[in-house]
Amino acid sequence: MKDIKKYIDTHQKRFLDELIELLKIPSISADKAYKDDVFNTADAVAERLKEAGCAKVEICETPGYPIVYGEIIKDKNLPTVLVYGHYDVQPPDPLDLWESAPFEPVIKKTEGHPDGAIFARGACDDKGQMYMHVKALEYMTQNDDLPCNVKFMIEGEEEVGSENLGWFVSRNQAKLANDVILISDTGMIAKDVPSITTGLRGLSYVEVEVTGPNRDLHSGLYGGAVANPINVLTKMIASLHDENNHITIPGFYDQVDELTAAEREKMAEAPFSLENYQKALDIDAVYGEAGYTTNERNSIRPTLDVNGIWGGYTGEGAKTVIASKAYAKISMRLVPHQDWKEITQLFKTHFESIAPKGVRVKVKPHHGGEPYVTPIDNIGYQAAEAAYEKTFGKTPIPQRSGGSIPIVALFERELNSKTILMGFGLDSDAIHSPNEHFGVWNFLKGIETIPHFYHEFTKLKSAEN
Ligand code: BES
Ligand code: MN
Ligand code: MN
Repeated sequence: MKDIKKYIDTHQKRFLDELIELLKIPSISADKAYKDDVFNTADAVAERLKEAGCAKVEICETPGYPIVYGEIIKDKNLPTVLVYGHYDVQPPDPLDLWESAPFEPVIKKTEGHPDGAIFARGACDDKGQMYMHVKALEYMTQNDDLPCNVKFMIEGEEEVGSENLGWFVSRNQAKLANDVILISDTGMIAKDVPSITTGLRGLSYVEVEVTGPNRDLHSGLYGGAVANPINVLTKMIASLHDENNHITIPGFYDQVDELTAAEREKMAEAPFSLENYQKALDIDAVYGEAGYTTNERNSIRPTLDVNGIWGGYTGEGAKTVIASKAYAKISMRLVPHQDWKEITQLFKTHFESIAPKGVRVKVKPHHGGEPYVTPIDNIGYQAAEAAYEKTFGKTPIPQRSGGSIPIVALFERELNSKTILMGFGLDSDAIHSPNEHFGVWNFLKGIETIPHFYHEFTKLKSAEN
């Protein structure tokens, strides 16, 4: 392993150039117009896996976008690491807020990334982080330093709910058999504060539609005399939180796993500056559920947020109109042991019940997903911890994240193994947002840390047997 730094130094320019090529393909899974690009990205990932030394690479068709599978089986008696990642990306809009085009990657220095960061949609989430694993594998195969078996499973539908991944996993349990699952699709606290993600929130995503009169109306002739769907919708949405910012849906908190005082104290030990947090977002105060800190609000507590709201006239100038319909998209982030299907049903029942006379309400469930929390007393976590200690010179902090990777809970159930979330992104990397970027330093540090995980895990696993 002594040569890894040298290998990275020698090849880093090529690593970055290759990642840039991958980032140029607009693999937007949410938008059918990019279908060919999503398929082409799968082909490109498969090629890269082959080049990195994967003996067997397959592009597995699904009813949706393909899953790229690759493996190196050295010896059936050695442990197997399964790497998961995704090659699809979020839509880049609003385009006018990008300083450079989302699919024309550029490397620019920033305050947080003095070594430069790659700006492009998918740079951090997840092409850049996924590609760290491909390059770590290249290092291990080129230097005869792969200590165990490895399997790759890179999907193209993560950003739209991984609908076909469950289908694939349940049909390929033997093929995907492994001793630990390794994912880099989360973040870390700071460059000098390494952390390992030990929890992900679940998700329930719904769309609501409020219909009033059967056509758009003149707001002078009818205003004040009929229910205005936009007025009604915003009032209904506002009522979903009380004055303490608790969610008002009956039963919403019934299954919530409350942390003990000791667990909360432990959490509070992670370094955090409220001042920097506010400064980074240009806000003069934080906002959220009474009785919880910012880090608790965004990780161990369930939340409800409007993600989009529309209706009526939004073009230039003014148009006096009462729209017939109003819409909103709403996400609820869930914690253990909330069941997303049950929460979706609770939302639907409640939302329909608070609709006033004079409007009709429809609730359309989209996707959802289960939360995930992993203990730290397993060899997967210990191997990751040892790997970070080697490359950062510090013990990483376990941290629950607010984001969701719904498929992780399913992995544990279907494949019966623990998932280790080694993320190298920063909160400021603007994933899902204009000007997404990934630090060059983070990218290279990830490549350096991953092979250590393989070695540590193989050691600990062999000692177990
Ligand atoms: N990689 C993210 C999730 C993430 C990011 C978790 C940072 C923790 C830290 C993933 O690609 C994602 O965006 N997931 C979606 C859910 C999915 C069902 C669309 C999310 O969290 O909104
Ligand atoms: Mn992701
Ligand atoms: Mn994402």
